[in-house]
This record gives sequence, C-alpha cells and structure tokens, in this order.
Amino acid sequence: MSHKEFFFKNDEVLIINDSVFHTRQIKPDSVDLVVTSPPYNVDIKYNSHDDQTSYEDYKIFSEKWMSCCYTWLKDDGRFCLNIPLDKNKGGQQSVGADLTTIAKKIGFQYHSTIVWNEGNISRRTAWGSWLSASAPYVIAPVELIVVLYKKTWKKTSGSKESDISKQEFMDWTNGLWTFNGESKKKIGHPAPFPIELPRRCCKLFSYTGDTVLDPFLGSGTTLVAAYLNNRKGIGIDIDPHYCQIALDRIKKEGGMGETRISHDAPPVEGKPKVRKTGVRKTG
Ligand SMILES: C[S@@+](CC[C@H](N)C(=O)[O-])C[C@H]1O[C@@H](n2cnc3c(N)ncnc32)[C@H](O)[C@@H]1O
Repeated sequence: MSHKEFFFKNDEVLIINDSVFHTRQIKPDSVDLVVTSPPYNVDIKYNSHDDQTSYEDYKIFSEKWMSCCYTWLKDDGRFCLNIPLDKNKGGQQSVGADLTTIAKKIGFQYHSTIVWNEGNISRRTAWGSWLSASAPYVIAPVELIVVLYKKTWKKTSGSKESDISKQEFMDWTNGLWTFNGESKKKIGHPAPFPIELPRRCCKLFSYTGDTVLDPFLGSGTTLVAAYLNNRKGIGIDIDPHYCQIALDRIKKEGGMGETRISHDAPPVEGKPKVRKTGVRKTG
C-alpha cells in the first residue's frame, strides 16, 4: 500500500487518489454520511473510467462500491445516493429502482427518496414516435437522491449539534428539491453536481464535526460543502487530475489554508507526515 494514495490530508480533509474498490485508507464503521453521485454508465468521457459497460456489469459495479460504503459507515450512518430516475440512452432502464434494490440487498435500510428537479437540463434524447402512440418516449428531467441508512435511522453518535435553520428544515424535508445543475465548463469536470446538493444533505442528515465521504469525488463538490459547513470530508477519485481540481476548489471556494502531505518520508504507523502552513476560514 503506497502512502501516495493520500493525495492530500489534514485534520479536516482527506483526498485519496485510488479506486473505491482498492483503497484501504478508510476504517470500517467510521463514516457518518456518504453523499455521492456515481458514474451513470451513460458514456461520459471521464479521464480514467469507462462509462459505457453493459447494464449487467453496471449493476455488479454498483453492488461492489455500495458494499464498500456499507462497511465504512457507522451503524447509524446515512447514505445519500444521487442517481438518475431512469435512462433511455442505450436502452430503457429503471436505474433508480435497480440501484435501490441492490442497496437493500447489501443490507442498507431504505428511508426515503428526494426528487431533484434539475431546472436547467434536458434529458431528452429522442421523441420516439413523434405525434404517434406507436412508440413514444417519456423522460422526466429529474434525478433522485435515495436516502438509506446502515442499521438505525435515529442518530446516536456525533456532536448532536445541528446547524440547520427552521426555514431550511421546513423546505428541505419536502422531498421535491428544485435547483439548477452545475456547469461542466465552469468546474472543469464532465459531470459535477451543484454544491447545493451536498450542502443540503450535510445540514439535514449530519451533525457538525461529522465525517462525510464521497467515494466518487470528481471535482470535490461534496468536500467543499463539508468544509464550509464544519464537517470532516473524505473523498476518493481514481483520477489524479480530478483530485487536484477538488483540492484547488476546497482551497479557493472553501478557503482552506495550505496543509500539504509530505511525500518525502514514509508514513509512521500508517499516518502521513503533514505540514501546516495556514489556517481555516469557516464558512
Ligand atoms: C459523476 S462523477 C462525480 C462528480 C462529483 N459529484 C462532482 O461534483 O464533481 C464520478 C467520478 O467517479 C470517478 N470514478 C470512476 N470510477 C471510480 C473508481 N472505481 N474509484 C474512484 N473513483 C472513480 C470518476 O473519475 C469521476 O470523477
């Protein structure tokens, strides 16, 4: 195991440049909340991941990574899974229902589903039979955030300090969330989600000081939200360039001071050498 898997580490942020299937850097039963959007298998051009496999292989991939998350979560840990409702590219598939079923098979308990009304996207790729009932296509311009948990929904671990306002609580417990998607060009990643998504999940489903994990970190949106809201963040991405984008965003958007892992010496008892060169601004 190379300590270079730690792309970045300080007391609040850990970025792991590795595959979710291979990393050994996360302890079992240590994570309070997973917020993630996995690859959707819709032929997005990622640097280091083939996003066009058979649907059967995609379900096997999904079962494997969700099993890792199950192991890493605490017994009262929660899992916010952002996935499409369905897809029609490469054949109609009930992605939301299928991944929820797989999660339940692993052992996750189902809590609820939030429908994210993604205002500025069109998922339409074809009309099917135009103005004819012979074979029309229906596609909803929404995604899901399926909310699951490991063993108990009632949260007993953590600081017990919530930072959600009355208005946010009332608005966000209505399971229809409406906000725009994020610009790929602005972020420099082919499939970022908007910070509003992990921000709401963090504040609604975790306490301050909790550990939030995104096993498909991408451009680091979940870690920016976690950092700005005083949660610890762990992110994994297979691609080093995306890890760098994530780190840059946490510094720029999150205001994190420089704290770089030193790669010039081996880790002591699994802990990397860290060098603090700045202080954190709170969001
Ligand atoms: C949908 S994107 C996540 C985007 C992220 N939510 C954001 O806001 O930028 C999926 C990410 O998963 C990463 N990925 C794909 N396979 C992976 C694997 N086996 N282990 C870790 N990361 C992987 C890709 O490199 C990609 O950045």
